[in-house]
Amino acid sequence: MIRLRVWANVRPMGWFGHAAGEFFFEYDLQWLNQPGAFVLAPQFALGSGAFTGALVRSYFENLLPEGEALDDVMQALALRDAAPFELLGRLGRELPGVISLLPEGAQPSAEQQYAALPFDVLSSRLRSQQPLLVSNKYTTMSLAGAQEKMGLRFDARRQLLSESVGTSPSTHILKPDTRQRRYQPSAVNEYACMTLARALKLPVPAVWLLRVPQAAYVVERYDRTDVAGNIVALHQFDGCQLLGHGSGWKYQRQGGLVSIPKLVSALRALPVRGADMLQLQRWVMFNYLIGNADAHAKNLSVLIGHNGYRLAPFYDLLCVRVYGDDALALYIGDEDRFDAVGAHSWEGLCADCGFGFAPLMLEFRRMAQALMPAWIKVRDRVASEPGITGEEQNLLSGMTQVFEQHAAHALSMTVRPAQS
Ligand SMILES: Nc1ncnc2c1ncn2[C@@H]1O[C@H](COP(=O)(O)OP(=O)(O)OP(=O)(O)O)[C@@H](O)[C@H]1O
Ligand SMILES: [Mg+2]
Repeated sequence: MIRLRVWANVRPMGWFGHAAGEFFFEYDLQWLNQPGAFVLAPQFALGSGAFTGALVRSYFENLLPEGEALDDVMQALALRDAAPFELLGRLGRELPGVISLLPEGAQPSAEQQYAALPFDVLSSRLRSQQPLLVSNKYTTMSLAGAQEKMGLRFDARRQLLSESVGTSPSTHILKPDTRQRRYQPSAVNEYACMTLARALKLPVPAVWLLRVPQAAYVVERYDRTDVAGNIVALHQFDGCQLLGHGSGWKYQRQGGLVSIPKLVSALRALPVRGADMLQLQRWVMFNYLIGNADAHAKNLSVLIGHNGYRLAPFYDLLCVRVYGDDALALYIGDEDRFDAVGAHSWEGLCADCGFGFAPLMLEFRRMAQALMPAWIKVRDRVASEPGITGEEQNLLSGMTQVFEQHAAHALSMTVRPAQS
């Protein structure tokens, strides 16, 4: 048997391991006996005894990067075809949410420490093509997703970056422009869309666009909080973990294991508050309006607190249509492309999710009407920030066209508030 200890901040939560040909996860007795204990994910109800099988594997696999980002990390670590267990053993000191995975005898340090990361050092890391995730020599970390990124700290007032030492939690995530030519530039896109979401009063963390001098998007981590100067992690799981599927199923077109109605019914079962279900509807509407073809099941998360579950703030909001993608990651009704979506699609979505059609269409109309006035202000501000490149200006113009088209389409669908 091999196993890693699962820590929740500085408390032992359980064990993740491999025995008798299977992965297993089990809670620590100490964890089960403490007030305020929470689950790793809804499939793993608090109790003694080991969980095994595909659910355990997919939960932990979901903590790892995906696609080329994963290949690059494996190459940098000189690993070939590594199983999630081996990778998490190498990357697991800081993970999404509350957990870290440490070898049996190791302990997280109670003292938190961070090392300065000057812009020019980050800049040379970006030039070196080394994966950012494994570029911190003071610790190891993993974050999900297909894009290059790393967890760190950002002092916005002093414009200073620093990186975690040991098990000290990061408080921000930094994403440079993607390496995939087809989706460049990307950092300004995410920065502008998140800023637009904030202007429309959607729940989003604070964001910045740094020039080191390469563009680097920075977002505050909503799964970290500062308690009297000490950073404490909060637990989160994403839509794939909620539904018990691996990251390979995050798009509905990959076999239909994930969908908005499936996410909605799993969220209701947790349960989350009614206000969060409204925010989820607004997440779908906003992603439609900005042409976010990549709003898949891992781009929505749930936070666990002592008062229960709540939908996490939104992240990874980008206009993907501007690069030419028009297939929806999660369908609206039966529609899998933006241009095919009509009032009937929203009606179908409402029927499948148990949402009221008339209120949803009213809210959708309100958001569509607010979109362009808010966007013009955001765009003008972003376009006048120092360091903006010609390519980025062109991208912002392309985004304006997509938003105009989608907002007009939305207004035509909602021309008369529907009666349900
Ligand atoms: N602000 C945040 N606070 C806490 N966790 C976050 C935040 N933003 C992202 N995450 C976590 O990191 C993961 C990866 O982030 P993100 O979706 O931005 O990456 P990505 O590589 O662009 O993803 P994709 O594969 O969808 O392109 C998310 O699934 C989420 O679990
Ligand atoms: Mg993502």
